[in-house]
Amino acid sequence: MSGTDFERAYRQAAQLVERELEGCFLEQGPQRELLEAMRYSLLAGGKRLRPVLTLKVCQALCGDMEPALDYACAVEMLHTYSLIHDDLPCMDDDALRRGKPTCHKVYGECNAVLAGDALQAEAFRRVAASNRSAGPAANARACAVLGRASGALAGICAGQYLDMAGQGRRLDEEELTQIHLWKTAALLQAACLMGLAASPVEATPAQQAAVETYARELGLAFQIRDDLLDQQSTTQELGKPVGSDVEQGKHTFAALYDPERCQQLVEAHTQRAKQAVADAFGDAEFLCWLADWLAGRGR
Ligand code: IPE
Ligand code: IPE
Ligand code: MG
Ligand code: MG
Ligand code: MG
Repeated sequence: MSGTDFERAYRQAAQLVERELEGCFLEQGPQRELLEAMRYSLLAGGKRLRPVLTLKVCQALCGDMEPALDYACAVEMLHTYSLIHDDLPCMDDDALRRGKPTCHKVYGECNAVLAGDALQAEAFRRVAASNRSAGPAANARACAVLGRASGALAGICAGQYLDMAGQGRRLDEEELTQIHLWKTAALLQAACLMGLAASPVEATPAQQAAVETYARELGLAFQIRDDLLDQQSTTQELGKPVGSDVEQGKHTFAALYDPERCQQLVEAHTQRAKQAVADAFGDAEFLCWLADWLAGRGR
C-alpha cells in the first residue's frame, strides 16, 4: 500500500460515514432548533477518525465495511457530543471547534448541553437498532462496549472528571496517562471493538487483544500529539484555539516534557500500536499506515 492508496482508502471510509450522517436529524418539528444544533456540530467537518477505525477494523476481519456502518455513525455522534460538552464554559471554555464557532456560541449553552445529551442518546439507539451488523447479540455487545467507553467507570466521563479536577495542578506522567486512557483512548478502543462486534466473522481472542492494545497505544499517541499541537500549531490549521490548555491551567504532556520528548513518546506508542495488529491480522496495512499518519498529523 502506498501513501496515496492509504489516503484514498481513508477518504472512502470517511465519506461513507459522512453521507450517512448527512441524512440524520432532518425531522421538522417544534424542536427544530435543537436538531439543527446537533447537525451543526456533527457535520462541521472532523477527521472522522473513530468511525474510520470502526469500519476498517470490521473490514480487516470480514473484508467488508458495511456491517459496521451504523456503529461507525454512532461512535462519531458520541464523539461529537463529548466535544460539544468539552467546549462549554464550565469545561474548556473554547469558542472554536472544527474551524467554526462552538455549538454553545451559536445556539447558547442550554441548547449545546441538550444537543450533546441527544447525540449521546441517539448513538446508543443507532447501535441497538442496527440491522446491518452481525445481529441483535452483536448490537447488545456493542452497546455495552460503547457504554463503558463513555461512562464514569473507565470512560470519557471519568477522564473528563480527572482532567477538570487536575486544573491548576502539576500532574505527573502516571496521572496524565490515566486521564488520556479514559478521556481519549477508551473511545478509540470502543470504536475498534465495535468494528469487531459488527463483523459476521468472529474475532479470535488474539485478534481481540491485539485490537485493544492497538487502540490503547493509538489513543495515548493521539492525545500526546493533541497536547503538543495545542502549543505548536496555529488556530487556522487546528480549527480550534491554540494555547487553550495553558489558558485553562491544564498541565499536559506539553508542560511536562519538551516537544522532542513528547514526539518521541508519540512515536513509541505508535510503534507498539502497529506491532500489535501486524502480528494478529492477515492484512493490517491500513491500520499501520493510519497510526503513522496520526503520529505526524498537523490537526
Ligand atoms: C479531538 O478529537 C478530541 C481529542 C480526543 C483530542 P479529534 O482530533 O479526533 O477531533 P475531530 O473529530 O477531528 O474534530
Ligand atoms: C478532550 O481533550 C477529550 C474529550 C473527551 C473531548 P481536549 O480538551 O484536549 O480536546 P480538544 O483539544 O479540546 O479537542
Ligand atoms: Mg478538555
Ligand atoms: Mg478541549
Ligand atoms: Mg486538546
